[in-house]
Amino acid sequence: MIEEALRSLRKGEIVLVFDAANRERETDMILAAEFVTPEHIKILRNDAGGLICAPVSAENAEKLGIPFMTDIMQVASKKYKVLKRLSPHDIPYDEKSAFSITINHRKTFTGITDNDRALTIRELALLCKNGQHERFGEFFRSPGHVTLLRAAPGHVINRKGHTEMSIALMEMAGLTKVAVCCEMMDNKSGNSLSTRDAQLYAEEHDLIFLDGSQVIKAYEEMIASM
Ligand code: 5RP
Ligand code: CA
Ligand code: CA
Ligand code: ZN
Ligand code: ZN
Repeated sequence: MIEEALRSLRKGEIVLVFDAANRERETDMILAAEFVTPEHIKILRNDAGGLICAPVSAENAEKLGIPFMTDIMQVASKKYKVLKRLSPHDIPYDEKSAFSITINHRKTFTGITDNDRALTIRELALLCKNGQHERFGEFFRSPGHVTLLRAAPGHVINRKGHTEMSIALMEMAGLTKVAVCCEMMDNKSGNSLSTRDAQLYAEEHDLIFLDGSQVIKAYEEMIASM
């Protein structure tokens, strides 16, 4: 199953990943940022419906110089006291938020259209792929309409969120370690889409559905074999 998922990702296809019953209990649509098209963004908007984010590996985040949003808030709280009170130390499903800054590519207009978001995400992946991290500020502006997520070092070894699962999948597939993810929502109830319905969606659309434990196990096995 994991091999099939990696093959799909290498072809620029979407893979569905449920994190865990003892975590968010969410299924995210995940794909490789280097292959994202406006058509993908349309699918994420209409069929997933959550927040479209771009997970970045710790290594790429370090080279780009992008902080966690929590670090920005901490520094800024010296001037804006309310930011200290807003500290996200009580997330119900994990210890730490993966949120980083939001960005737009400088060639976008508003930044929100399918064309604009695909451009921002794809260009970020290509910048990282080409090792041009130091030119980040030349090509992108912030705030923008794509939320970057910063993966923990060692990915799923140190944090078991979709952020790290996305990057672990990119690494196992041999792809640039920048991804796209978006939570699948239930249009009827407004809640997260049930695992059952996410699996049905996968079957109907001929997509691979993975349980987070499969991603973690495959990644641990890869590390152990190195
Ligand atoms: C951003 C989120 C999503 O859940 C996304 O999957 C990343 O978060 P995490 O790594 O915590 O699963 O909250 O929309
Ligand atoms: Ca989350
Ligand atoms: Ca606006
Ligand atoms: Zn998640
Ligand atoms: Zn979420």
